[in-house]
Amino acid sequence: MIHYLWEKFPYKILTDPEYVDFDFVYQQLKNTYWAATRTRTQIAKAIAHAIPFNLYQEEDQIGFARVITDKAVFAYLADVVIAPRYRGNGLGKWMVSCILTHPDLKGCKILLETQDAHGLYAQFGFELRESMKKQL
Ligand SMILES: CC(C)(COP(=O)(O)OP(=O)(O)OC[C@H]1O[C@@H](n2cnc3c(N)ncnc32)[C@H](O)[C@@H]1OP(=O)(O)O)[C@@H](O)C(=O)NCCC(=O)NCCS
Repeated sequence: MIHYLWEKFPYKILTDPEYVDFDFVYQQLKNTYWAATRTRTQIAKAIAHAIPFNLYQEEDQIGFARVITDKAVFAYLADVVIAPRYRGNGLGKWMVSCILTHPDLKGCKILLETQDAHGLYAQFGFELRESMKKQL
């Protein structure tokens, strides 16, 4: 699998799953409204079956997102988090903008669900749509 890198000193985003700081991602997701009850096993499996976007300041991971995709038609953007002390500096927007240029996602319809960050995604042209879902 090809991995991609975006750089904006002192920050970088890398899609290599080998470089996921799992404890960082686990702790960040534990503090979200949508993933607080996920187990470590679920989180590890969810990362393994998606494209991870790991945001680092130098060597430290400070943000994460992942995309589940068939690389042709659909892609689902999930688990977008920036560590609290780094928020409000444009890093979330930079990460979303990099994700949208990932070559494997070209031509895909990008879906996502969020309760409160609509303003972030609206800036990139995401539209509010109704959808159906069921929990298994
Ligand atoms: C949402 C999140 C990833 C944004 O990252 P960030 O680095 O703080 O965001 P940025 O500095 O790049 O700016 C975000 C922009 O989206 C807007 N926005 C809208 N809703 C927002 C929200 N709930 N949280 C943060 N920003 C939001 C901001 O006002 C800002 O707009 P601006 O360019 O007009 O100033 C980060 O706040 C976070 O990790 N929050 C907790 C987890 C979460 O809610 N994730 C999103 C669910 S998919």
